[in-house]
Amino acid sequence: MRRYASLALEPGSICVAEQLEITQLGHPLLRQKASEVTTILATQTQHLIDQMFATVNQAKGMGIAAPQVAYSQRIFIMCCQPNQRYPNAPQMDPTAVINPVITQYGEEIEKDWEGCLSLPGLRGNVPRHKHIQVAYSLRDGQRVEASFDGFLARLFQHELDHLDGIVFIDRVATTEIYMEKEWRKQILSNDLAP
Ligand code: NI
Repeated sequence: MRRYASLALEPGSICVAEQLEITQLGHPLLRQKASEVTTILATQTQHLIDQMFATVNQAKGMGIAAPQVAYSQRIFIMCCQPNQRYPNAPQMDPTAVINPVITQYGEEIEKDWEGCLSLPGLRGNVPRHKHIQVAYSLRDGQRVEASFDGFLARLFQHELDHLDGIVFIDRVATTEIYMEKEWRKQILSNDLAP
């Protein structure tokens, strides 16, 4: 296995990277198609991945895409675990997803509520494919194939959209966009009712 220049950059090492500022809607990179990563093992790519992990952890997000930290590269992080906002979220080891593609879409479409670190305070009821098959590279360069359903399929599609300059509000009717405060009152409280 390839050794990295610094121990701190070894995959799976304790994350010592600094956080980056999260771009907000209106930042031009959120509307650009990001570039393929050609140098996955390069120190700068590995460092960016560490910084993205640090940033999404600090923000208590489930995912973050490189354009959300002002890098126009086809990388996103999935770090899915149940929390207060998403009590039913599945557990998934934090993963850097590089040069992702969706190779097959299931026919079934499902709507559910999404938010985004680049659009704080907004929620949208977004239709997504319930099942997808995907391929992507890991941070060690290995190319993998996977199938995702439900929550993880939604997260993957949301993050992949960021790499193509799309944000979730592009995919919903304006009447299905709520401010978080009203969403909590009207939607979340209904969902939690017996
Ligand atoms: Ni997002």
